[in-house]
Amino acid sequence: MSEDYQGPERVFSGVQPSGELHLGNYLGALKKFARLQHEKECVFCIVDLHAITVPQDPKRLAEQTRHIAAAYLASGVDPSKALIYNQSDVRAHTELAWYFNCVARTGWLNRMTQFKDKAGKNAEKASVGLYTYPVLQAADILAFKATQVPVGEDQKQHLELSRDIAGKFNRDFNAPGFFPLPEPLIDGPGAKVMSLRDGTKKMSKSDPADASRINLTDDADKIAKKIRKAKTDSGLVPETPDELDGRPDIANLVGIYSALADMSEADVLEQHAGSQFGPFKNALADVAVAAMEPITELMTRYLSAPDEIDRILAEAGDKAAAIADPIVAEVRKIIGFRGA
Ligand code: TYM
Repeated sequence: MSEDYQGPERVFSGVQPSGELHLGNYLGALKKFARLQHEKECVFCIVDLHAITVPQDPKRLAEQTRHIAAAYLASGVDPSKALIYNQSDVRAHTELAWYFNCVARTGWLNRMTQFKDKAGKNAEKASVGLYTYPVLQAADILAFKATQVPVGEDQKQHLELSRDIAGKFNRDFNAPGFFPLPEPLIDGPGAKVMSLRDGTKKMSKSDPADASRINLTDDADKIAKKIRKAKTDSGLVPETPDELDGRPDIANLVGIYSALADMSEADVLEQHAGSQFGPFKNALADVAVAAMEPITELMTRYLSAPDEIDRILAEAGDKAAAIADPIVAEVRKIIGFRGA
């Protein structure tokens, strides 16, 4: 956090309503959200403005947004403790994003690896929105003067950019400590869940192989099958975490076990050291099904009551706007607009 920032602590994070959520999203983000709501003021967003940086089907966007809301709720985020709202309901995001577009430097955005990955060889055909996506992300966080941001490791560079934007705004407008420098909360074994088919690649919704990930909608049978088919090597389960070096597929499975069972990697290994991977994967499948099955069931139940989801989102949207609007109004004054 900025040395100069004197305001209260606040946690903010967001998830995109595009494609299926998977175990990486759950362990890297949702599970942490459910824990943090007991410790700090939390604001959680479904970032549909980010989703439209690539084409979305207008007939399905609202449904996908409700799907993410159901995932938040099923993961244990309690709307009476934390705000769960929809980004496009709160105008402060788009307004602040424009101001930040004028603070961020093109050189900073040119270094963003996620844009390069997503745009691929055809960067010239990518939307301008995809390019400035991390600026909108900074606006999300700073419209709430959030001090902490729980995310998976893949968001680290975007968080650094948010800090750079906050710092430059404070300096450029001679407003020391106006924005905090938000800290990423990237810890624990769930911060980087890798593909079940290739332990060197991130588990991702865009991987064409469904067997590479566990989706939040997979039933017990599917979860167990995918884990039993997960890639391993010809060795045995090692004794200590140090021996996971250079064995990415095994390190991934041990990390998933540890995150799902809330055990240290050392304890997981102590329980299974010397075992073959068949029995280890059976034990992991049991742990995964026990952790994920209730979430899948709850998600289905929440999704059967879309009106209730809409009510939760609308109420939280009003509360979120009541926090963000005055902050953006202050930004207008700081910039010096006539009407501010
Ligand atoms: P998104 O929707 O791609 O992912 C949501 C969250 O899941 C985490 N995650 C993972 N964690 C561990 N292992 C994985 N394999 C894995 N894959 C995804 C992501 O790190 C993220 O925390 N840009 C963000 C959304 C966003 C946001 C924000 C986040 C928009 N505004 C403001 C924080 C604060 C994104 O695309 O996440």
